[in-house]
Amino acid sequence: MDARRYILASCQLLCTATRPNRALFLHGIVYRSDRISVAAARYSSHFTAEELPHQRPKVTLNTIKSLYKKNIPIASLTAHDFPSGIVADRAGVDLVLVGDSLAMVALGYDNTNQITMDEMLSHCRAVARGSKAPFLVADLPFGTYEVSPEQALESSIRLIREAKMEGVKLEGGIEMAATIKKITTAGIPVIGHIGLTPQRSASLGGFRVQARTATGARKLLRSAQALQEAGCFAILLEAVPAPVAKFVTQALTIPTIGIGAGNQCSGQVLVQLDMLGSFDRFTPKFVKKYADAFETNSAAIAEYVRDVKERSFPGEEHAYSMRNEDDIKKLEEIDIAAAKVSSSGM
Ligand code: KIV
Repeated sequence: MDARRYILASCQLLCTATRPNRALFLHGIVYRSDRISVAAARYSSHFTAEELPHQRPKVTLNTIKSLYKKNIPIASLTAHDFPSGIVADRAGVDLVLVGDSLAMVALGYDNTNQITMDEMLSHCRAVARGSKAPFLVADLPFGTYEVSPEQALESSIRLIREAKMEGVKLEGGIEMAATIKKITTAGIPVIGHIGLTPQRSASLGGFRVQARTATGARKLLRSAQALQEAGCFAILLEAVPAPVAKFVTQALTIPTIGIGAGNQCSGQVLVQLDMLGSFDRFTPKFVKKYADAFETNSAAIAEYVRDVKERSFPGEEHAYSMRNEDDIKKLEEIDIAAAKVSSSGM
């Protein structure tokens, strides 16, 4: 199939899959590769969340439990804003995590501990506006849950009530069990995060693989069991050896979500910007780069810069016409030089 037919076929497929919003898809898709435009006239790039197609049933806690029971891996991914929320939803992600990795990969902070609750709330709201089907979980930012179980519950309530999240995630092992119990008892779903916990990287001696010894693995298991007991609906295992993650997964009755923890967890999570190759810096060992967004985006932007410099963008197809062509002549009758002088106040 040549590129042109492939693009048209893809458009047809999208239109069929989203029949109620057919017009929206046609509006939104302009394929530059062979200069075909399938966009209908539209006068701004704005659209509202209401225009997003709802393509699949909502993922609930029951869906997550059912995937786990059926041994179907739970596909989780981070989203940090409206477009990344939309794309994760559209691609079939089960659980979207507004992780505090946002601090580093989207906001450019040195570490995750610098993000504030207000920043998290703002990003969570944006993700929730775009991501309709996935189960939505947000990280409790550093400093918003460690002081007391009450503080943790209040912060969790803010993420649920003010930012439309459906659950929260927090870092820490057995010592966080009472805090987790407080939140889950209030009816808020919690994911416990153990193994490498980036908010505590200073006390862990950096971003290091955890539980590499039998003693470490037993300690990890004790934490996982305590978090399960406290009511977590899932445990995120970060940067632990694959056999340890498998062992912990087998010993629990709730799902594990792994990142850098091998393929025997009940599900996987990655940071979306990492797996899309959005940076031209190092990629952690556990990340598979599914795209090279940095390369693609850089090439596109460089082409745009060239087009602007050469005045080949915008083309006629991107410009608006006068309602009445005769008015162009009337414009030509205006003395530009005189207009310039009078408007500069000389
Ligand atoms: O903040 C984050 O993105 C995380 C990762 C482990 C997915 O917690």
